Amino acid sequence: MKIILLVAKAKNQVIGKDKQLIWKLSADLKRFKNLTTGHYLLMGRKTYESLGRPLPNRTHLIITRNPDFVAPEGHHSFHSVEEAIIFCTNLQLDRVFVIGGGEIYKASLPLCDILEITEVEASPEGDTFFPELDTQHWKEKERESFPADENNEYSYSFVTYEKR
Ligand SMILES: NC(=O)c1ccc[n+]([C@@H]2O[C@H](COP(=O)([O-])OP(=O)(O)OC[C@H]3O[C@@H](n4cnc5c(N)ncnc54)[C@H](OP(=O)(O)O)[C@@H]3O)[C@@H](O)[C@H]2O)c1
Repeated sequence: MKIILLVAKAKNQVIGKDKQLIWKLSADLKRFKNLTTGHYLLMGRKTYESLGRPLPNRTHLIITRNPDFVAPEGHHSFHSVEEAIIFCTNLQLDRVFVIGGGEIYKASLPLCDILEITEVEASPEGDTFFPELDTQHWKEKERESFPADENNEYSYSFVTYEKR
């Protein structure tokens, strides 16, 4: 099973502010939907709550320390990233997507096989950060870059990293 991390991060590693995303990038949302539809998504409780409701056609695996948290029907909660990964392994999934936020990226980065990073050409203020990548451990495999346009407020690159 491949553990694939998906994130959109700014040049200064910012990924969020006030529990929200901080840019309008339609291309990134579209890519997120294309990559994740039909799959299992692992996320922190705060990111889950920021979605407002489960995303259609995806199974949500929500990480929380709260023993009373109840996931909606058809979705699941766990008390650690490792517990959720074991659950996925037992289901013999071919992949699971780690979709944030900051705490869960930090906890899961050492377990991931592939990083799909949208590098956003901006340095906004924020309160949530993606960890600095150690290039000794991660090798860039693909990069596609695009200019800003009416649907994407900054220029951006879709970059794939694989574990060395
Ligand atoms: N740019 C992007 O691609 C992207 C993607 C996703 C999210 N975001 C942004 O990231 C921000 C949210 O990130 P965040 O770091 O504040 O929160 P988060 O990682 O989404 O969730 C944190 C919560 O996860 C649970 N948790 C974390 N570590 C745990 C562990 N080791 N064991 C058990 N439970 C654990 C705790 O839940 P309990 O408090 O319930 O115990 C904790 O409060 C928002 O601004 C969001 O918009 C950005």
